[in-house]
Amino acid sequence: LAASAMMRGMAGMSGMGDMGAMPAKAAPFARPLPIPPLYAGTLAKDGVREYRLQMGFGSAELQPGIQTPTWGYNGNYLGPALVIPRGEPLRLWVHNALNQSTTTHWHGAHVPGDMDGGPQSLIAPGATRFYQYRIEQDEATLWYHPHPDGRTGPHVYGGLAGLYLIQDGTDRNLGLPHHWGVDDIPIIVQDRLFDSAGRLVYMPQAMDVMGMKGNRFLVNGCESPVLRAPAQWLRLRLLNASNSRIYNFAFSDDRHFYQIATDASYLESPVTMRRLLLGPAQRAEILVDLRSNEGQRLWLRSDSAAVVPGLSRRPMDSDHYDRSVFDLVEIRVERGQGQGGRLPDRLLAAPDLPTHGPEHQFSLQGMGEGQQMMADMRRVRAAFQHVAHSGPGGMSLGIGKVPVFSINHQFMDMQRINLRIPLGSTQVWMVHNEAEMAHTFHVHGTSFWIQGRNGHPATSSEHGWKDTLLIRPGEQIQIAMSFHHPATDAYPYMYHCHMLEHEDNGMMGQFTVLPA
Ligand code: C2O
Ligand code: CU
Repeated sequence: LAASAMMRGMAGMSGMGDMGAMPAKAAPFARPLPIPPLYAGTLAKDGVREYRLQMGFGSAELQPGIQTPTWGYNGNYLGPALVIPRGEPLRLWVHNALNQSTTTHWHGAHVPGDMDGGPQSLIAPGATRFYQYRIEQDEATLWYHPHPDGRTGPHVYGGLAGLYLIQDGTDRNLGLPHHWGVDDIPIIVQDRLFDSAGRLVYMPQAMDVMGMKGNRFLVNGCESPVLRAPAQWLRLRLLNASNSRIYNFAFSDDRHFYQIATDASYLESPVTMRRLLLGPAQRAEILVDLRSNEGQRLWLRSDSAAVVPGLSRRPMDSDHYDRSVFDLVEIRVERGQGQGGRLPDRLLAAPDLPTHGPEHQFSLQGMGEGQQMMADMRRVRAAFQHVAHSGPGGMSLGIGKVPVFSINHQFMDMQRINLRIPLGSTQVWMVHNEAEMAHTFHVHGTSFWIQGRNGHPATSSEHGWKDTLLIRPGEQIQIAMSFHHPATDAYPYMYHCHMLEHEDNGMMGQFTVLPA
């Protein structure tokens, strides 16, 4: 079909190194950047804040002039940005108007296991799941997305994802830019592959088995958008919501910018940089100084040319897209609007963390090497050959799991609890990437602090609370975290790689948090 025509030249085991044979030509930068609406819920009579989300089918103009069948929360694609005031009691309902069961998980939120929306918390088609909890953690840019066992990849790919903004007034107190859609801009980055009819293509036969990678780049569900920004300090909240691609953010004029936040909190203080690497599910907030750029235009881009060698030891992973530089959003700088934000000196007080341990070690294994890798790849391809085309517009869904990625040599099994953690404990974990390519490591129900990387101290851009690690081949990363909420055998927490095709194909484990 059209899709296979598009993929020609990328197909075949031996052709995997040639994936760049057909780079896609991006649409011209023209359409205004869509800004997901803020959704602060509504106050019920008893003072509890209530939110209603619905997962459903839609159709969206992801590429200019082409309608694509999609999935979305309360709309066609992606979802509203939930405003979550810290410390308030909340009630949330998530309704499933799709044709298959899925879940909704609050990525990075400190909520009990039964409110976490993990693989056990399936919502059947037509059903609604009720959540109630209170968020007591630092102001941060989190997100929400489906988490069904073995199908998270296609469900997020279809468009189910949204921002989850914990607010406690810190940004206003610090004087940071905080006018949503004006000088405080969400940047949700996703890569997608389309067929000639404009339908999403998920994991075609010829796919790089390292995960789903597309050749078109969307920001907030729009290819080649334009952001009109005032000549002030601009705050960008970057979320890598791609299934498996790593981005190395930069600006077209190679300017410096300032990282102020990581996944789950602000940094201790802003960090000056010209490149910022984000793996899937990771977030960063940056400030860009546009005060003397009125009338100019610049592009936020990904410049992956320099980073790939450190991310994989296998030449076949260094496909064309990863080695390229591509623009994501054009920024047109307009007249300033007066009262702008500023760049503070200090942002967050560092926590007191234990130096004992590690209590637990996690080793990540990828596919086998040599003959074993060929056999693994054949298994993956065979599985994707038999998928049911039941999604909107023929998007491939209901993919069978092929356990090829593992943690501590175990594949995800919903019947097995891999680890038991005492409630209230603070622990040190060591995560070791034994695979040949980079992976990520995400822990539910808490946030962690990086204590060391290969025995060296964390860098200043890691001095903040995180929930997702990007870990290069051979690296050992030590993290510390506390477990303040319970997770039972019926509703355990997950730890997993957030490259969704790895997560779906074995690279996930389950843990409980219960009184010792
Ligand atoms: Cu973003 Cu376990 O998920
Ligand atoms: Cu992985």
